[in-house]
Amino acid sequence: MTFQQVYGYEPAVRYSAPGRVNLIGEHTDYNDGYVLPFAIDRRTVASIGQRDDRLIRVASAFEPDAVHELSLDELDPSRMQGWSAYVFGIAWALREQAGADLSDKTGFDVFIESDVPVGAGLSSSAAIECGVALAFTDLWELGLDRKTLARVGQYSENHAVGAPTGIMDQSASLLGEQDAVVFLDCRTLDTAVVDLALEANGLEVLVIDTRVEHAHATGGYKARRESCERGAQVLGVEALRDVSVDDLPRAQELLDDETFRRVRHIVTEDQRVLDTVRTLREQGPRAIGDLLVASHASMRDDFEISVPELDLAVSTALEHGAVGARMTGGGFGGAAIALVDREARDAITTAVTSAFAAAGYREPTVFTVHAAQGARRD
Ligand code: GLA
Repeated sequence: MTFQQVYGYEPAVRYSAPGRVNLIGEHTDYNDGYVLPFAIDRRTVASIGQRDDRLIRVASAFEPDAVHELSLDELDPSRMQGWSAYVFGIAWALREQAGADLSDKTGFDVFIESDVPVGAGLSSSAAIECGVALAFTDLWELGLDRKTLARVGQYSENHAVGAPTGIMDQSASLLGEQDAVVFLDCRTLDTAVVDLALEANGLEVLVIDTRVEHAHATGGYKARRESCERGAQVLGVEALRDVSVDDLPRAQELLDDETFRRVRHIVTEDQRVLDTVRTLREQGPRAIGDLLVASHASMRDDFEISVPELDLAVSTALEHGAVGARMTGGGFGGAAIALVDREARDAITTAVTSAFAAAGYREPTVFTVHAAQGARRD
């Protein structure tokens, strides 16, 4: 399926936006903390034609026979179903969240294609949102900057799609840079680009997609978020970002065991992000392995968002020489990353695949990712 086949004419423009991998800093974003993701060389492309009425029509290569449509006069989450909410929701959020006046705008025909794997925890949804957000703001000449667009994407995800996620994925997809990680303060949205220098160090980031599917609109993600909010409330802080590692003994006295362990993950993870940034700058990527491993242990034992497949991917990669490894993204399935020597890549891939077969798990999908540029007009 192509734009031309669905709509019968050629698109006027194409915008694309990447998925992301998070190097470290998990579940810290909605606690006003720090994250260190990078945009990957897997992208979603939105091909767009301009209409002269008020309709937005949406089709995609992953749902070949469906064309969804909604008028700009009917923008409301209650009218958005399924994945098309990722597109319609952006128009709605541009108006609701960023205050854009859409009353005199005309609509678009939109066609979405993507090579970001869906359900792998690599933010395929943020890739759609960010490509579309950049396209709409450009074509409607709204003049919104990328940080505002990240907020728009998150707002749409939270209220149109219905997943209570933080700001990390959209920030990475919009602000990513080639060969670099994005150090983001999720309270201020201040960013710094930190050199990854993988190539110069003979390293690669392997993604091990366990193919265990997760969904953040339901279940564990929301429960973790609630635990964090409860913890912050009992500790009398605005967000867990305001708790330091030195405050943990006092926190342990005040909190029940489970809430304390959730809090300890966030507080130590924020510190690990800061340590990773410093280590990358001072010593380079080969020195961050222990921080990645500690992050995984904290998610497995304290935050309890790993699954046996992710643990096996991480332990097997480490046993076969990975510099570091951890699950990435929201958890409960999805992917792990391993920082590996280029020469060790094939052996680690084989080892992980065999370990999964021996354990009776589904065959994982293993591939290398590179840090890539954020959303752009192609
Ligand atoms: C998902 C969410 C993000 C973030 C991560 C966990 O990817 O979309 O906002 O909370 O989980 O770090």
